[in-house]
Amino acid sequence: MDPDMATGGPMHLVCDTCRRIWPADRSPGRCVCGGLPELVFALPESIDPTIYDRRRDGLDPLDRSGVWRYREFLPPLSPGAVVTRPEGNTNLYTASALSSWTGCERLVLKHEGENPTGSFKDRGMTVATSHARAVGARVVACASTGNTSASVAAYAAMAGLLAVVFLPEGKISAAKLGQAIAYGARIVQVRGDFDAAMRLVEEASQELELYLLNSINPFRLAGQKTIVIELLHQLRWEPPDWIVLPGGNLGNTAAFGLAIAELQVTGIIARRPRLAVIQAEGAAPFYHAYRSGFARFSPEPAETVASAIRIGNPVSYHRARRAIEQTEGVVEIVSDEEILEAKARVDRAGIGCEPASAASVAGVRALVRAGIIAPGQSVVALLTGHLLKDPDTVMDYHLSPDAERRPLANRPVTVEPTLAALRGVLSDVA
Ligand code: F0G
Repeated sequence: MDPDMATGGPMHLVCDTCRRIWPADRSPGRCVCGGLPELVFALPESIDPTIYDRRRDGLDPLDRSGVWRYREFLPPLSPGAVVTRPEGNTNLYTASALSSWTGCERLVLKHEGENPTGSFKDRGMTVATSHARAVGARVVACASTGNTSASVAAYAAMAGLLAVVFLPEGKISAAKLGQAIAYGARIVQVRGDFDAAMRLVEEASQELELYLLNSINPFRLAGQKTIVIELLHQLRWEPPDWIVLPGGNLGNTAAFGLAIAELQVTGIIARRPRLAVIQAEGAAPFYHAYRSGFARFSPEPAETVASAIRIGNPVSYHRARRAIEQTEGVVEIVSDEEILEAKARVDRAGIGCEPASAASVAGVRALVRAGIIAPGQSVVALLTGHLLKDPDTVMDYHLSPDAERRPLANRPVTVEPTLAALRGVLSDVA
């Protein structure tokens, strides 16, 4: 156990509901009252952000991580405990085809699929796995729609920890399952949906002393804050009008709210960007709560082609609600067909992403059409996962009978190995 942590140090956990305080010296699970732990540690009163330019250009391995470079915003863990690939340093993209399709001239995409295991989860995992190691955990666990499990499996392998991942059987992409298998996690397939797997892992983590790496864990959220911090750094600390992201379990939404508040408190930004959270129409409990003015929230059965966000009972509902309220944010829904078309357009622009990611781009289009995003406003849409995360959905989009009516469908052809046959199929292009 890290000596700073054994004493509690200045860092501790506070329940977001009953305000009970406990030390950050073990797996930070749910409070006895059902509330979720907030992580408290001292932020500097002000930060001169030019330190981040120097670190980005330096050689220190921690500075090379797009997470640990921003360590003023991270919990104090001893550098010896840190497990890093490194993460982050993800690129920004513009594409005129996407600006015209969405109706948003100043659209920028930030591609979190460029992280080591292909999704934004690695940013939270480097921090939470490092904490797990610092407090002497032996076995780490998560429930997942696929990306969290891939990231947990990789970081546990690097840290020398055993990983147990709980997956809804038959409901995650083969590529993500393959990652978790390859990295050596113990895989438990649960007969049920993600929400059932989540309930089971929470119970199991208490009974069996597993260190829980889902986004209940505020060390995960601390790491994910750096998506926004690195984005603002790339924009020379000039906030966009909107940041648009897909919402599933809502950990990322919560992390973005924290990041925006902390960037303002430390004097780095003067104005808050607004958050827009996009859910799939068939997995939209947060949207329905938002539409009720957050008067009502109820879990729902979830179904969508975007398997990463097929979640009906988001763990971070209350935290995400706070993020929307504090940023004058909005919540929108898009249909599966809109998600698939947005994905096909992101792919065709040469950028590529997995289906859940494309919800953010489909959402920008919906919000411009609804008059909520004005065409001249600056918008950053987050791509959360890599194209290769879900090849089955690509094949289905382009090769299924439905492809006939899809303008971007791209069907491979097979030929005999002769020039004559080739001429036959390439007559329109060569
Ligand atoms: N996009 C992708 C690619 C995801 O994998 C997830 C969540 C989200 C968006 C939604 O983020 O949960 O913070 O609202 N995936 C989790 C998982 C649930 O298990 O991999 P969120």
